[in-house]
Amino acid sequence: MSAIKRIKSFVKNTPLIGKLAEKVYRQFVPGPEKYIFTRFGWEKESQESGKPEVQQILNLLNYTKTSGASYAAKKYPAGYHSLEIEGSIIKGQRDPFNRLKRLEIDFAGLRVLDIGCNQGGMLFSLYDRIKWGVGVDYDYRLINCCSKIGYQTGKNNKLSFYSFNIDHDPHEIILDMLPEPVKKVDVVFLLAVCMWVEKWREIIDLCAAISPVLVFESNGSPEVQAGQIAHVKSRYSEVEMIEDSNNGNRQLMVARNDP
Ligand SMILES: C[S@@+](CC[C@H](N)C(=O)[O-])C[C@H]1O[C@@H](n2cnc3c(N)ncnc32)[C@H](O)[C@@H]1O
Repeated sequence: MSAIKRIKSFVKNTPLIGKLAEKVYRQFVPGPEKYIFTRFGWEKESQESGKPEVQQILNLLNYTKTSGASYAAKKYPAGYHSLEIEGSIIKGQRDPFNRLKRLEIDFAGLRVLDIGCNQGGMLFSLYDRIKWGVGVDYDYRLINCCSKIGYQTGKNNKLSFYSFNIDHDPHEIILDMLPEPVKKVDVVFLLAVCMWVEKWREIIDLCAAISPVLVFESNGSPEVQAGQIAHVKSRYSEVEMIEDSNNGNRQLMVARNDP
């Protein structure tokens, strides 16, 4: 990577500084077009999809794209995660099934917590295998999608989703969102979240306190990711790197402690 590209990537991916630099830059250079939300009706002639229930989900998914976040994936029909609804795949930027295939974890009967769960795609994909799953995210639009998809697909008997802000909420309150009063879960996902939050060290600490297995994906500049990975390594005794995802923009790994 050239020096200029490295500096740009460092500034862009450094929490707070990145946001500030973007604001200043946008004073001079217009940004990408803002996503304009259109709600489609359920009547046959105005639907994007054949079924009113699917149209409800599509409307909620489209509404998440108004967040303006770079991961809102507005070019994709589903947004961030590809989702299977009523037997058809709605394509998103990332495919949870492919991602899960890369992990050598037997999820059968496990209790899984997904911190920064987005539209819940990882947990919806694991539904058949796990004991239960809880997803938390700070964006209410995403949690609304998770609730609706959970209800519509009948997966809400095992999966629940809550609004939770890593930077503003007490981290241990997550324990009160679990479907049973337990102090540990079997696996936590913390995937491509850390560069977006200030309290990333503290949330990794919580993961280590409540779960022997952390599936972690680093994100941000190479330096930022190195810091995240070092912190994970300081909290878990074994860290298995899964092959590099997305040309080093993110790295997937499984961290383990003795249960
Ligand atoms: C790049 S997406 C990754 C989504 C998901 N973890 C995955 O990789 O499949 C980042 C996620 O972090 C969530 N997020 C960002 N800031 C957060 C915060 N302060 N508290 C909780 N979630 C946050 C976003 O809403 C978004 O769903």
